[in-house]
Amino acid sequence: MNTTSELKKVTTRRIIEMKAAKDKITALTAYDYLIARLCDRAGIDIILVGDSVGNVFQGHDTTLPVTLDEMIYHTKAVQKGVKRAMIVVDMPFMSYQTNIDEAFRNAGRIMKETEAGAVKIEGGELFAKTVAKLTANGIPVMGHIGLTPQAIHRFGGYQPRGKDKEEAEQLLKDAKALEDAGAFSIVIEKIPAKLAKQITESVNIPTIGIGGGKYVDGQILVVYDMLGLIEEFNPRFVRRYLNLSDDIYKAFSKYVSDIKAGDFPSDKESY
Ligand code: KIV
Repeated sequence: MNTTSELKKVTTRRIIEMKAAKDKITALTAYDYLIARLCDRAGIDIILVGDSVGNVFQGHDTTLPVTLDEMIYHTKAVQKGVKRAMIVVDMPFMSYQTNIDEAFRNAGRIMKETEAGAVKIEGGELFAKTVAKLTANGIPVMGHIGLTPQAIHRFGGYQPRGKDKEEAEQLLKDAKALEDAGAFSIVIEKIPAKLAKQITESVNIPTIGIGGGKYVDGQILVVYDMLGLIEEFNPRFVRRYLNLSDDIYKAFSKYVSDIKAGDFPSDKESY
């Protein structure tokens, strides 16, 4: 548990300083009040309200159906549980791609209605002007390159990215373009560890890896993946810290059998 003196709010400045200090940045996703509260108490630096909410909360196959209103709804719940961590909110598919002004308006809505600390945008060089507009107007931006799930139909699957020379070079350019546009950090997803290291060494802003190996400035995982809540999703980059789906299944089954057997509620559990 954090003591009060440790509860100084994490800011973009702090996140950038952590890279220089070689202090690893810790990040997890959260979509609700209770999980966010636990992340915060455990000392997680960044809580991402990810559009992975579409997969792990809403049950969609991709993140594409997630709306801006849904992101705002989840972030308001997360916000209630957080005192220290920086909250970053994913801008969902089609909330920033059409034009810079729309991206600005939508990012502004997120900041105004949720009091989050930053937004996240998938893409590099292609969205550099959008990132520049947002940051110039006081909206911190986290970039996201590599396997960007909103581009899943273009990629045609969830295979690692940046494995050929051309794509690796583009990813290096993307990271530089994001830094030059004012992004305060970059998520790099599912690329070779060697390339992630090269990207990390080529920019002054922190890189936060998911499936990017250890030579990055921080790590992020989807919270339900690391809690072992999703049995059928088992990529190499996820370390399961719990097997929650087993425990929950057992608890639910026991509840059913206790009721059927007349064991629940007991006299002690009655008035
Ligand atoms: O939406 C999400 O959870 C993400 C992480 C995988 C980085 O973007």
